[in-house]
Amino acid sequence: DDPEKLTTFQARIDSGEKIEPKDWMPEGYRKTLIRQIGQHAHSEIVGQLPEGNWITRAPTLERKAILLAKVQDEAGHGLYLYGAAETLGVSRDELTEMLLDGRMKYSSIFNYPTLTWADMGAVGLLVDGAAIMNQVPLQRTSYGPYSRAMIRICKEESFHQRQGYHIMMKMAQGTTAQKKMAQDALNRFWYPSLMMFGPSDKDSVHSAQSMAWKIKMNTNDELRQKFVDQTVPQAEFLGLTVPDKTLRWNEDKGGYDFAEPDWSEFFDVIKGNGPCNTERLAARNKAWDDGAWVRDGLMAHAAKKRAAKLA
Ligand code: ACO
Repeated sequence: DDPEKLTTFQARIDSGEKIEPKDWMPEGYRKTLIRQIGQHAHSEIVGQLPEGNWITRAPTLERKAILLAKVQDEAGHGLYLYGAAETLGVSRDELTEMLLDGRMKYSSIFNYPTLTWADMGAVGLLVDGAAIMNQVPLQRTSYGPYSRAMIRICKEESFHQRQGYHIMMKMAQGTTAQKKMAQDALNRFWYPSLMMFGPSDKDSVHSAQSMAWKIKMNTNDELRQKFVDQTVPQAEFLGLTVPDKTLRWNEDKGGYDFAEPDWSEFFDVIKGNGPCNTERLAARNKAWDDGAWVRDGLMAHAAKKRAAKLA
């Protein structure tokens, strides 16, 4: 890259200007955005699976309608994000193919199973809570289309988090068996949720450059700390216990001290060896294969229309 162009580009970023699709950008900036936005889009799409699993078994019609709306929102988030990635010169089909053959990642969290109805509560409270913590700052990210997509996504995510909290509240105030279910869901989702923010800062390969480019606004550990500080009082209010015996309020730092997740488990999950990786990718591959006739039909229709226009 031309050093002069790089300096001007960095100055634009530093002054808080947005970078738009037709502007000059370093190849590394474009690649990093495609990786991060693409991974984010895939996470929204794969993220429909663990909750989709409970739509037919929601306990009331109201809960079913809410869950259905939420899962549809995730599909919409995936679409805005694929749209944002496409402005960088990659097609949605290319991104999908990279997901399906394992060249691109999606969030580790969606490789864990949802075993009971209380998991819908824990997913809303913890997984959507972590997603908001990560995504609110991304509304100010330097790439225009990504930041604008984030604004709408964040509005919907906060509804998702609240619906999760409401499920947890009902369960926690319910029968002994229901409360036990809520506690069990919290126990299973706590550490995987902490892993959503990525490896600890010392192991985060992309953070320094991504923060200089304002593709990321905070380090992984900063956001993880904020998430713990926000979530512990919420769990306490519900009468539930965060499964971390080392958890202590630290007056000096104005935040909690907490136990790190098991990082070997995290790296294993992102390598493809989590409890549901195979199942999740098989479901996405099946959806892609089952949809081939729709794509073929659309292409044939477009070709016919083009031919008619030329004639
Ligand atoms: N799940 C899967 N992979 C992860 C995760 C995770 N939770 N965290 C980090 N990684 C991967 C990174 O993609 C990177 O691998 P790669 O080079 O093959 O892409 C590697 O671990 C090292 O991590 P970092 O250097 O810290 O990576 P990065 O700077 O991209 O930070 C983060 C990771 C924080 C997830 C960042 O990409 C981000 O903020 N993304 C946008 C938000 C997002 O994707 N959310 C998805 C889940 S929320 C939801 O959709 C409901």
